[in-house]
Amino acid sequence: MRVGLLTGGGDCPGLNAVIRAIVRKGKTVYDDELIGFYDAWDGVIEQRSISLDVLMLRGMLPKGGTMLGTRRGNPYDREGGVEAVRKTFADMQLEALIVIGGNGSLSVASRLHADFGLPILGVPKTIDNDIFGTDVTFGFHTAVQIATDAIDRLHTTAESHDRVMVVEVMGRHSGWIATYAGIAGGATVVLIPEEPFDIDEVCALLARRHERARYASIVVVAEGAMPIEGSLEIADRGVDRYGHKRLGGIASIVAEAIEERTSYEARVVQIGHVQRGGTPTAYDRVLSTRYGLAAIDAAHDGAWGQLVVLRGREVERVPLADAAGRTRTIDMPLYRDVAKVFFG
Ligand code: F6P
Repeated sequence: MRVGLLTGGGDCPGLNAVIRAIVRKGKTVYDDELIGFYDAWDGVIEQRSISLDVLMLRGMLPKGGTMLGTRRGNPYDREGGVEAVRKTFADMQLEALIVIGGNGSLSVASRLHADFGLPILGVPKTIDNDIFGTDVTFGFHTAVQIATDAIDRLHTTAESHDRVMVVEVMGRHSGWIATYAGIAGGATVVLIPEEPFDIDEVCALLARRHERARYASIVVVAEGAMPIEGSLEIADRGVDRYGHKRLGGIASIVAEAIEERTSYEARVVQIGHVQRGGTPTAYDRVLSTRYGLAAIDAAHDGAWGQLVVLRGREVERVPLADAAGRTRTIDMPLYRDVAKVFFG
C-alpha cells in the first residue's frame, strides 16, 4: 500500500514517535511504501515529500519537533489548494493519507474525506489536550511536566522574595494544561478559560493567605482565561495569519491588577513555547507509539474518515466528523473538586 503521512498545526512532543511507529509497522508487517509530506498540507499541495524507511527513523523516538516540518496552512484557504491535494493523490497513487494533527488539520482531513471521499484518517496531536473524542492527546503530558517543573522552581524564588508569581501556560480555550500543572505544582489558584475569574476574589484569597503568614503565591493562568465581564480590560489582539485568535499576555494583566489591588509584589512568567519543545515524556512516547501503530492498522482496514483515539485504556476509532470543529474543554469536576480544594 502507498501510504502518505503529514504532521500539521503546532509542533508537539511525540510527533516523531508516531511517524516512527507508522513506518516500523508499515514496513515490517505490511510491506508498505511510506511517503512523508513536508510542511503539512503545503507539502501535499506542492508534492514535496520523502520516502520513509525504518533506518531513517533511528534515534527519533525521544526527539521533539517533527522531522517532516509543520505549518498551520489549510488547502481550502489556498487558491487551487484542494484541487492540488486531489492531484497529488492521483499523481502519486496514494492509497491512504494519515494526518497527524490538531483541531485545524483534523477538520481539513474530515472535510476532504467528506467532500471527495479521499482515503484519509487522523491521529490526535496537541499539547492542549482539547480534541473531542479522545481522553488524551500526545504532547499534553510533556507540556504539563514542563510547566510543573517551572512552577516547582518558581516556588523557591517566590518564597525568597515574598512575591506573587503569575505563571501563564498555553492551552488555547481549554484549561487542561493549567489545571493539571496547577494541581501538580501546588498552585495557590488556577484561572481557566472555562470559568471567568473575579480578580477581586483572587486578591481576597491572596490576602487571606498573607494573614496566615504565607507571603509567596503561585497564580497559574491559562492563556485563554477571561475575567468576569466588566472587571478587567483585556485588549483584543486580533488574529494571526491563519485566522487564529492571538492569545498570550493575560498574566501581565492579572499581575498588574494584583499589585494595584494588594500592593504585593508580583512577577510574570510566560512559559510559552518551551512547553512544546524538546523530548516527550515516557507516557507520551508510549501513547504516540500506540497511536502510530493503530493508524497504520486503520489504513489497512480502510477506516477512512476515522480518528484513532484513547478511551480509557484502549485505542479505538471515532469518526473524524465527530471531533472536527469541536473543542474539548476541561472536565469541570477535576477543576472544581480537585484543583480548587487546594486554592488559597
Ligand atoms: O495549539 C498548541 C499551541 O501551543 C497553543 O497552546 C498556543 O496557543 C498556540 O499553539 C501557539 O501557536 P503558535 O505556535 O502559532 O505561536
